[in-house]
Amino acid sequence: MKNKIVAGNWKMNKTFSEADDLIYAISEGLNDMELETDVIICPPYPYLEMATDAAEESNFTVGAQNVSYAEKGAYTGEVSAAMLKSMDVDICIVGHSERRAYFKETDEELAKKVDQLLANDIVPIFCVGETLEERESGAHWDKIGGQLENSLFHLKKDEIANVIIAYEPVWAIGTGKTATPQQAQEVHAFIRKKIEEKYGTETAYNIYILYGGSCNPGNALELFSCQDVDGGLIGGASLKAEDFIAIVNAAETCTKND
Ligand code: 13P
Repeated sequence: MKNKIVAGNWKMNKTFSEADDLIYAISEGLNDMELETDVIICPPYPYLEMATDAAEESNFTVGAQNVSYAEKGAYTGEVSAAMLKSMDVDICIVGHSERRAYFKETDEELAKKVDQLLANDIVPIFCVGETLEERESGAHWDKIGGQLENSLFHLKKDEIANVIIAYEPVWAIGTGKTATPQQAQEVHAFIRKKIEEKYGTETAYNIYILYGGSCNPGNALELFSCQDVDGGLIGGASLKAEDFIAIVNAAETCTKND
């Protein structure tokens, strides 16, 4: 069976010293575990080096939260995929709903970001998900299907094999309202089916599809136990070492129970 992935997205939280404390506490917690789960920590850009240094002594990998769609040059404030790679960052979140909503990132722009990451051997964690309004009107299937088609389906089979997908219903992010395991499973199965139709059964089976949205130590085990949920992308609960480690433990339990 596949092991799980648990990724922490710190978003725009923590000062330098708070980040140092959190990374230290998470490292300590993980070092006590015989891990099968792949743990990823995605701090803000300024703390990436601190995280990659700590990762050398622990069993997690480091991801960024964003990347530029451009290769290099006069793009003030942007960070390129090559820069991330040169800092030993091997993973990067793309298309988070907060970036789509607040920074008006489009599917086309996100396709370019995915290309930049793959060209630099960085694994994209590509986020999809619907708003409450879209879910209530039944438009979520088209929305999620469109996000996959527009930003990922130009990739070749050997390229999409290096992408992690995260289903993050917008209505569940930071709201305390989690998708039920049934809701999560239904969408994850839909995403896997879309991948299967385009790329075949093996690619669909192997691709990781994470759930994100108010995932916490109390609901992680039930969510991760769903057949098509390969782990989680954790926001708020990744900011407390104890909660994050408890979620990693839930992933370990799922793998062992399989
Ligand atoms: P919360 O876990 O805080 O709901 O955030 C989820 C998320 O957006 C992770 O990327």
